[in-house]
Amino acid sequence: MTASAERPLVDGFGRRITYVRLSVTDRCDFRCTYCMPLDQSFSPRSEVLTLEELQAVAEAFIARGVTRIRLTGGEPLVRRDVMTLVRAIGRHLGRGLGELTLTTNGSQLARFAQGLFEAGIRRVNVSLDSLDPERFAAITRRGRLAPVLEGIAAAAAAGLRVKINMVALKGLNEDEILPMAAWCAERGFDLTFIETMPLGLVEEDRTDRYLPLTEVRRLLETRYTLVPTPERTGGPARYVRVAETGQKLGFITPLTHNFCESCNRVRVTATGTLFMCLGQEDRVELRDLLRSGGPAALDAALDRAMALKPRGHDFVIERRNAPPAVSRTMSVTGG
Ligand code: 5AD
Ligand code: SF4
Repeated sequence: MTASAERPLVDGFGRRITYVRLSVTDRCDFRCTYCMPLDQSFSPRSEVLTLEELQAVAEAFIARGVTRIRLTGGEPLVRRDVMTLVRAIGRHLGRGLGELTLTTNGSQLARFAQGLFEAGIRRVNVSLDSLDPERFAAITRRGRLAPVLEGIAAAAAAGLRVKINMVALKGLNEDEILPMAAWCAERGFDLTFIETMPLGLVEEDRTDRYLPLTEVRRLLETRYTLVPTPERTGGPARYVRVAETGQKLGFITPLTHNFCESCNRVRVTATGTLFMCLGQEDRVELRDLLRSGGPAALDAALDRAMALKPRGHDFVIERRNAPPAVSRTMSVTGG
């Protein structure tokens, strides 16, 4: 029996934690309107975990039976020398770690796709809310569509499976739901739709952009036959297959559905805060423990953290001008 099987991480509700989302930076080269304000402030370098510390955090979780790690941000590929970390964590694949994945905005993917594959990554999630260059620029504010499309093509060419994440935005990309599904189907990409979540303050009221995925599904059903699949990943997504194309479509509906009972995940920010839930404040600060006590202190902290994991989130977006559920943006907690 391996050490991990002897000491699995199990929370107070009996949920086994096998999946960690590890943010490698809170910085991003985009400023998506629903994600962060233009004047977002970022963590000072001294507070951000070094690449070695990020590796130590990943290894502490792997030693306790975590089998899947997703690197997130911010935009993970804007972190200097991020490939050193990817390769270091990738060495655990097949030795405890079953899968290493990455969520990216795609802006740097053309440069990194091959290296990611060589490090053992087989799947990437790329955020893409519009296929129209002007709209893409308006939503991301600092992004350009062309390099992202090049990045996506490079990822596919390198052998990475691509899943596109599209945030459904009322009045902004509703009319692209069907074109995006077709574009992805042609290329063999899975596609997941996401409802806006009340995480951190941005300039606009997210209520104005909230497009319930029931509406997205209705739009898709005007063209396609959606066959529900029982597939679950322990996360919030529900999946269907498109009968006509075989494509897998996911729906992340944190606001219209509660998915917490099967939650298997925790998140670590780039500054080493372990958040037990995307939508709650329960946390353990790992950075100072690691800096003063090393891996043993980290290991002990994981046990304390398990007792803190809340039953679930309480997102609401129905009320206008309601404060965000938590004050930190997705880019801080790690998408
Ligand atoms: N609500 C919903 N989705 C968000 N993302 C970032 N911030 C939010 C938010 N407030 C998305 C990104 C990316 C994924 C990780 O989360 O677009 O696709
Ligand atoms: Fe950056 Fe992703 Fe946030 Fe857009 S959604 S600003 S790409 S972290």
